Amino acid sequence: MEEPLTIEGGHPLQGRVRISGAKNASLVIMAATVMVPGETILENVPCIRDVEVLADILECLGARVTRLEDGNLSIYVPDDIKVETPYELAKKLRASNLLLGSLLGKKREARICLPGGCDIGSRPMDLHLKGLAALGAEVRLEHGFVEARAGKLVGNRVYLDFPSVGATENIMMLAALTPGYTVIENAAKEPEIVDLANFLNAVGGKIRGAGTDLIRIEGVAELKATRYAVIPDRIEAGTYMTAAVATGGDVLVENVIPTHLYPIMAKLQETGAVIREENGGLRVQAGAEILPVDIKTLPYPGFPTDLQSQMMALLSVARGTSVIVENVFENRFRMVDEIKRMGARIKVEGHTAVVEGVPRLYGARVKATDLRAGAALAIAALMAEGVTEIENPYYIYRGYENFKSKLRNLGARVI
Ligand code: EPZ
Repeated sequence: MEEPLTIEGGHPLQGRVRISGAKNASLVIMAATVMVPGETILENVPCIRDVEVLADILECLGARVTRLEDGNLSIYVPDDIKVETPYELAKKLRASNLLLGSLLGKKREARICLPGGCDIGSRPMDLHLKGLAALGAEVRLEHGFVEARAGKLVGNRVYLDFPSVGATENIMMLAALTPGYTVIENAAKEPEIVDLANFLNAVGGKIRGAGTDLIRIEGVAELKATRYAVIPDRIEAGTYMTAAVATGGDVLVENVIPTHLYPIMAKLQETGAVIREENGGLRVQAGAEILPVDIKTLPYPGFPTDLQSQMMALLSVARGTSVIVENVFENRFRMVDEIKRMGARIKVEGHTAVVEGVPRLYGARVKATDLRAGAALAIAALMAEGVTEIENPYYIYRGYENFKSKLRNLGARVI
């Protein structure tokens, strides 16, 4: 069992933190590299567990993934890359399902181990499969695998009932190498979708409209390797911004794209924080007190579900009651039972959590249940009176590069 992450609370975060490359852009672009023959060089890919697991999966398929001296990631893809993801590895990483669209695009077949539910919900793939079938793929769910063959692939119009990030990405990747024109309507608009489109265009794809709900893709015959830098991680940035406010601190968050952070900036400013652009980063200063706010998570550009737990930790000590509605996932309040052990007063009814602010939290032994819940418990620990031990910290290290050292450099007491 991994050592718990132990934090002594009560120390305001001060100083500057450099944000790493985006996990959710890195993973989908790594999956997309199987469509590109030869060596692709990716810059700004964070050294985190999820990237390591996907690299191992790509190596099982026959690719060669190397972390270069300069920190960049080299991915060499042979022509005879395999088409079946290994169960043991794929079940560890939901994002392995993104190999469905890229392998189908490149090899015209794919056998993807269904990643199954995870800690925050059932995570179905119906929208992915509907979209791929619309382009002519024959898709079957069998024995916990998705078996897909490209029948006669041809561009088509696909309407997504829900702007699913993963479904948009899988359809985009297959369409990039599918003859004809594809239009994705009600597409996801997250910055990571735009980053994938920019990568695909950089290697010769023809994609327009990414970042809007209407994406147009003209299929091309082949793609050509290049070097590409991944965008910074808006969720990592939002996590440190929230931690700065929660601890009464003053932090400069560097290497960010401010427009990606407007949803979290607006909410933190509502709680009384002062945030302004400074030296290309964002300067986050805690307000005199933490005011209660209401939150509804929504697809981008609404408030991101991946920052909901972190905000809940902050609001647990607000001067009043906040209402949080989780509209994206069906089971993303799992941190509540853990933070209540630190003194939080939260009542959950279905998709709604009512957070009644208390004067302070107290250190306790708690356990992380998923990546963002783990990060939220770390924020709770940073502001709690006394010492908190967070079990299963590997959840946090899946998505936060150098988490402990970044916190220590900001003055946190990480034991
Ligand atoms: C991506 O997951 C992110 N993961 C998630 O980040 C993020 O929370 C999510 O998008 C929403 O922004 C990666 O990019 C690797 P969805 P994804 O498909 O693609 C339902 C993190 O912490 N749905 O947009 O799986 C689904 O059940 C992770 O970094 C269907 O019903 O999210 C969910 O309720 C967590 N059918 C909702 O849509 C489908 O076919 C949103 O899912 C697909 C999804």
